Amino acid sequence: MSTDMSTTADTTSPVISLADVTKRFGETTALDGVSLEVARGEMVVLLGLSGSGKSTLLRHLNALEQPTSGDVNVLGDQVSRLRGRPLRRLRSRVGFIFQQFELVPSLTVLENVLTGALATIRGPRLGLFGYSKARKLEALGHLDRVGLLDRAYQRADTLSGGQQQRVAIARALMQRPDILLADEPVASLDPESSEQVMRLIREIAAADGLTVVCSLHQVDLAISWADRIVGLRHGAVVLDTPVEGLTKAEVMEIYGRVATSTAELEAVQNELLAAEAAR
Ligand SMILES: Nc1ncnc2c1ncn2[C@@H]1O[C@H](COP(=O)(O)OP(=O)(O)O)[C@@H](O)[C@H]1O
Ligand SMILES: [Mg+2]
Repeated sequence: MSTDMSTTADTTSPVISLADVTKRFGETTALDGVSLEVARGEMVVLLGLSGSGKSTLLRHLNALEQPTSGDVNVLGDQVSRLRGRPLRRLRSRVGFIFQQFELVPSLTVLENVLTGALATIRGPRLGLFGYSKARKLEALGHLDRVGLLDRAYQRADTLSGGQQQRVAIARALMQRPDILLADEPVASLDPESSEQVMRLIREIAAADGLTVVCSLHQVDLAISWADRIVGLRHGAVVLDTPVEGLTKAEVMEIYGRVATSTAELEAVQNELLAAEAAR
């Protein structure tokens, strides 16, 4: 394995493929003719302003949304055709982490991690009694990996935001996923915790050969951690480029070029300034 943590993308077999995907919500076009292929092991960052379609795109990848037109193919299956058990199987192979972590606050950290296994085992599992010893050891292993083994028996709501997001990563790993989706995973975190969470996602993805699609709105973080940036604007892909050698000025230049109004350009600049002020 290379020492610079760069992932080993296998371009011969895309694990995610979108072909001319359009999604409408009434009058709103949330995705507008998106075509995109993601190779196994790649770490792709979706970059775009609020409302540009990042969450909608991610939600298509585990069938939380269905396209109005076009095809979404994930891990060899056409997602819109899946029902019942094959759909559950797909969802179990796709881990998802969210801006607000979505932990159960009153449960312990360990119980929260164990709920990640619910996607792969049958029947209700309430409390620690329902899980096998092997599962508990596995969960503790994931907590160790995210640096929180000593917090296993604490309530989740006693942890900081950055720690809670690391628990959410451990919970996603409990699914033994092939793909990890992350929707603005650091938008609620301070700059230091943001770096920590992005580094962790990057390291785990590289070590386990996970394919990652992560939405962000900060250009700096995207350049630091992605293999490739896909820029969205009004639901359309306006930028799709490897990160190596890319500068922030180049990304901004592209955003500037595609801005259709001064208001839009100002919005891009304001987000950049806010991101800068936050660090
Ligand atoms: N369930 C929904 N119903 C109606 N409109 C929606 C829904 N989900 C998203 N949208 C709209 O689609 C557009 C893209 O939203 P979203 O994917 O959440 O963008 P982002 O995650 O980049 O902020 C926005 O205009 C949003 O208001
Ligand atoms: Mg969103």
